[in-house]
Amino acid sequence: MYKKIITLCLLFVGYLCHFAKAQESVTKEYHEQYRPQVHFSPKAHWMNDPNGMVYFKGIYHLFFQYYPNGSTWGPMHWGHATTKDLVHWKELPIALYPDSLGYIFSGSAVVDSNNTSGFGKNGKSPLVAIFTSHDPKAEKAGSVNTENESLAYSLDNGVTWTKYAGNPVLKNPGIRDFRDPKVMWYAKEKKWVMTLATKDHITFYSSPDLKNWKKESEFGKEIGAHGGVWECPDLFPLTLNGKTYWVLIVNLNPGGPNGGSATQYFIGQFDGNRFSSIDDQTRWLDYGPDEYAGVTWGNTGNRRIFLGWMANWAYTQQVPTTKWRNAMTIPRELALFESNGIIYVGSTPVKELFLLLEKPVKEKASTKSKRLSGQYLMRVSANTGSDFSITLSNKSGEKLIIGYDKAKDQYFIDRAKSGRVDFAESFSKVAYAPRFSKEVNSQLLLVVDRSTVELFADGGKTVMTGVFFPSTPYDDFTLKSAKATQLTPLNPIW
Ligand code: FRU
Repeated sequence: MYKKIITLCLLFVGYLCHFAKAQESVTKEYHEQYRPQVHFSPKAHWMNDPNGMVYFKGIYHLFFQYYPNGSTWGPMHWGHATTKDLVHWKELPIALYPDSLGYIFSGSAVVDSNNTSGFGKNGKSPLVAIFTSHDPKAEKAGSVNTENESLAYSLDNGVTWTKYAGNPVLKNPGIRDFRDPKVMWYAKEKKWVMTLATKDHITFYSSPDLKNWKKESEFGKEIGAHGGVWECPDLFPLTLNGKTYWVLIVNLNPGGPNGGSATQYFIGQFDGNRFSSIDDQTRWLDYGPDEYAGVTWGNTGNRRIFLGWMANWAYTQQVPTTKWRNAMTIPRELALFESNGIIYVGSTPVKELFLLLEKPVKEKASTKSKRLSGQYLMRVSANTGSDFSITLSNKSGEKLIIGYDKAKDQYFIDRAKSGRVDFAESFSKVAYAPRFSKEVNSQLLLVVDRSTVELFADGGKTVMTGVFFPSTPYDDFTLKSAKATQLTPLNPIW
């Protein structure tokens, strides 16, 4: 009898433990160490580039390079997430799986309102995804013909997709790196324009129906940064003082201004066939070490909203997160500005981020606080007459320094002593960025989110993104020759 009671008790205790564990894993999801609380990251496993970004029926779609069976890069799928307000995200089932043509590499998505593709049914406009089919077998065999462009369409708002039976629609002409199509509707000539990264330059194609593509022109062999392969391009118009310019984004890996991957761009004109740059300036959208593969949403009217992957190919497969790897930046609004007679693109967080603001922390001195950790927004004002800095730190003496170097006239992020840095040598290198503002006063906006910082300086003229991995959270900060004018925690989105 006693034996029976003991066995029953043990079974009950076992059940309770199991239940508690299950509960624990439920509550911990999205709250693991280093998991950003106001940025999109996948529930589990590996993510890289944002893909197929399109606004449709009140929803911003984000597809992304995804490997669902591990936390390092693997056979690529398109993961899928949506947001109505650009800050709260919902992850949906995988949208595209590898097939006989290969892995599903980066690309874009469009709303085919006129049903030029014929994929629409019963008056429903299809969403059409244009992506690169990357054939791993051909790659292994050393063939140049590894990348071709393919289509898939969705008639249920992007939830399920059908691959086009006629894939690939654009065949490899003998260029190994032939990928990441970004397609837009060129209304003036009622045609689709594809901007494609082709090794060390961009090739433009056009099509009446998304299925038949004609080569239009090439751009970039002798201009811009060429320290690595050109990838993930984007092309869109922006206006400055009533004049329209075209911005051509070209992601580059390696060869960024602070090493590894980065997003460069060109300013110029596009006439439907050809892009020409207004000068031979090399420009970077984000000077930090950790913004890559960034492109913009299609179909957003006059707003131009950019999203990047917060990572650097130089070390991202080794960063110390295991369950999931990497997050996207805060969506950013792009706008042109002029500095010293040169036109640049600046970026600021979308205004929707401010929906997450909690009550500001009121600090008398505003130069030191132990009351902020986790995710928050900090505005800082400082005089560029001297060096200044903001140091985030913890009890173990680990620290991240964000500041301004007067002698160099540059902003910087120094993570040499930021915590776990031993997974890659290049991680400890101080990253620098030029200052474009002529104002003596510098205004910084910092978005800090557990293991990520985005610096928007001088109204977004200089932007830097960096990730960091302290062994315990930074719960202290000190400002040197600078004043925090606003300190506000952000409500977590998860
Ligand atoms: C950029 C990139 C793309 C490619 C994808 C593969 O990070 O290399 O050029 O399509 O990642 O995952």
